[in-house]
Amino acid sequence: MPRRRSQLIPWKVAGRLTEEQPSADDVVQATGWVFNNETGDTLTMAEFVATGDNEVPVYLARFELLNGDDEHRRLVEIGCGIGRMTCAFTRRFGTVIACDLDAGFLERCRESVARFGKVDRLRTVEVTDGRTLAIADDSVDVAFSYITLQHCDRDDALALVGEALRVVRPGGQIALNFRSWSGVDPFVLPLGAAVRLLLRTPVIGGWLSHRRFSTRLAWQANRLDPHQVVGPIQDQLTDIVVWRNPARNAPLWGVKHATSDHFEGINRNHWWLVATIKERAENRPS
Ligand SMILES: C[S@@+](CC[C@H](N)C(=O)[O-])C[C@H]1O[C@@H](n2cnc3c(N)ncnc32)[C@H](O)[C@@H]1O
Repeated sequence: MPRRRSQLIPWKVAGRLTEEQPSADDVVQATGWVFNNETGDTLTMAEFVATGDNEVPVYLARFELLNGDDEHRRLVEIGCGIGRMTCAFTRRFGTVIACDLDAGFLERCRESVARFGKVDRLRTVEVTDGRTLAIADDSVDVAFSYITLQHCDRDDALALVGEALRVVRPGGQIALNFRSWSGVDPFVLPLGAAVRLLLRTPVIGGWLSHRRFSTRLAWQANRLDPHQVVGPIQDQLTDIVVWRNPARNAPLWGVKHATSDHFEGINRNHWWLVATIKERAENRPS
């Protein structure tokens, strides 16, 4: 059996913990912080999903991802977790394909959507290798990913960007969230790598994988700037907009034909790539 990559361990451990909980509210109390950094014995799944209900319409509107026919359109969410945002997506889009590394999260995501969304519109896809989506080429209208690509191994993150480009049809859109470098990262990223190494060690690894501080460090995996993501794929895209917090207004470089836009709702260390997929070159096999 191939050795599990240390990058995937913190998520798998959180997923297992999620599976062990007796109720949805217990899931949020035990693992909700994994998704929105909130803790407490009084958290409920309803409140957790409400955070997604508040955010989703804002992103969909700001990034102009909606059209009048959304009931007939398909959205893929890369890194859905236990469905914080997925519920809201299913109320808007005719089909939502929720993808995640962890099968336990996907099961809980289905439960969340059954309670708070439209479960008949949901499909789930397990991303078993952390980098490939088992979804047909050109088969969805929108690819959306929030606070996920920063937690992947850098090559996996870039592979998932490639997968988003592959599965979205020409004329469809992508909205992908990344984290770029901040002042503490020269310390945090090496610490994260060290904790991931320790996660492999027999006793210490098990202990660390259940601790909040070490898990949070372990999932600090990559920082990517716009030129690193957009540079290699920009010829496949049109209407490229890099969205950032208004405090981040340095000019974009290494990205042709991209415009820069801002809104307060974006974390200061995050940025979004929002773009439309161009018609394919004739080289894709039919
Ligand atoms: C911080 S959570 C965000 C979940 C959700 N987007 C939200 O905002 O609530 C990150 C999610 O990404 C998933 N994830 C991490 N690496 C992944 C990968 N390589 N492929 C797919 N999902 C991944 C984790 O299992 C986790 O559910």
